Amino acid sequence: MKRRPTLLLKNVSIPGGRSADILMEGTTIRHVGAGSDADQVIDCSQLLVVPAAVDLHVHMRGGPQAAKEDWESGSRSAIAGGVTVVADQPNTIPALTTPEAFAARVADAKAHSLCSFAINSGVTAATPLAAMWEAGASAFGETFFAPSSYGDAVDATTLTRALAEIGRLGAVATIHAEEVAPGEDSSLVDHARIRSAAGEVRAVEAVSSCNTTGCRIYFCHMSSSRSVAVAKGIVEVTPHHLFLSHETFDPLDTLGKMNPPLRTEKERKDLYAAWDRIDIIASDHAPHTRDEKSAGFAAAPSGVPGVETLLPLLLAEVVAKRISLADVIAKTSQNPSRILGIEPAGFEPGCRADFVLCPRKETTITAENLHSRCGWTPFEGMKGVFPTRVIMGGQVVYEDGEFRKGDPAWIPGKGYRPGRK
Ligand code: DOR
Ligand code: ZN
Repeated sequence: MKRRPTLLLKNVSIPGGRSADILMEGTTIRHVGAGSDADQVIDCSQLLVVPAAVDLHVHMRGGPQAAKEDWESGSRSAIAGGVTVVADQPNTIPALTTPEAFAARVADAKAHSLCSFAINSGVTAATPLAAMWEAGASAFGETFFAPSSYGDAVDATTLTRALAEIGRLGAVATIHAEEVAPGEDSSLVDHARIRSAAGEVRAVEAVSSCNTTGCRIYFCHMSSSRSVAVAKGIVEVTPHHLFLSHETFDPLDTLGKMNPPLRTEKERKDLYAAWDRIDIIASDHAPHTRDEKSAGFAAAPSGVPGVETLLPLLLAEVVAKRISLADVIAKTSQNPSRILGIEPAGFEPGCRADFVLCPRKETTITAENLHSRCGWTPFEGMKGVFPTRVIMGGQVVYEDGEFRKGDPAWIPGKGYRPGRK
């Protein structure tokens, strides 16, 4: 049998205080302890070594939306930010509501993605959910319980039926829970008012009422501590809701416009204080071009890029000793791996060999250094700890700004039946 290449990380500080050498063979961790020799050896004594992130909420666009992003540019952005696996949302053009559209999306990603990927199925009254599950959907949704950019809302009857079917399949339903009140949408303050935190709480409760058969629900991007408290299911929070408030933006700045909206500084802090209840931190990477964002407040699409800054922003908090590295690893890597059903990356033999190597110091975030095609970031000027090397499947795929081709994989869901039509 052909010997698989080995990579040894020397002098790794493991959360909990131990220092060890980590030997990877092929795509898995073979040994943790005192290491010997390997095909490639990297000394990590000065470095922060972190299991790579799994971002369960990205919109990689492509097709007619390629000016915003596509699999090539979006996955570069992911890798450069220390994300080796993404879950792509189905509000693409065309939306992923047929097995044919789903298969075409998988083929596009297989041809162009630098990182591993899972793809979710759309949910409409007409979507053949069981066929999408067999086609390899990893979860259902993001299903909009209020309209959003590129997302039509489903009504309560459709959602109730869909949740029963998704539950029967044993899959996860990914829900965007919001309530939109009538009113003018001409500033970030208006935007936060018509899509209020109280409305989000009501939407979360309404979704729970639709869940009559106990389907597993993943609540996307909860923007307030009250929603986090009432959500019965998996709780996802984004870095933009943790680190930004609308008070720090010019009220007319559409770069701060997304759904759900940025809230007040007080609400942001309350959300951060709900840290222990947050299962997943994911980016909701939703790039739009600067041109589109210049359309005037009401017309500008909602959404911000974020896959590349997800882990760096959190690691900056770790370096500043505001949160623990173990918590960041749980919320960005271990928990999302479990939800996807893949082996977590980590510091034990048998773990997936995906790591991020960073200096123990922050740099300033600037769009110029990022890789999303949209060319801007809402975190401009903030601090981040960025990877200098990223390892995926036991191979160095990113080093000092250069990308090397690895072996990214499609991660189909548990219902995948190859060859079924
Ligand atoms: O701000 C948002 N933009 N929220 C969403 O849920 C969708 C997203 C998009 O696709 O642009
Ligand atoms: Zn989204």
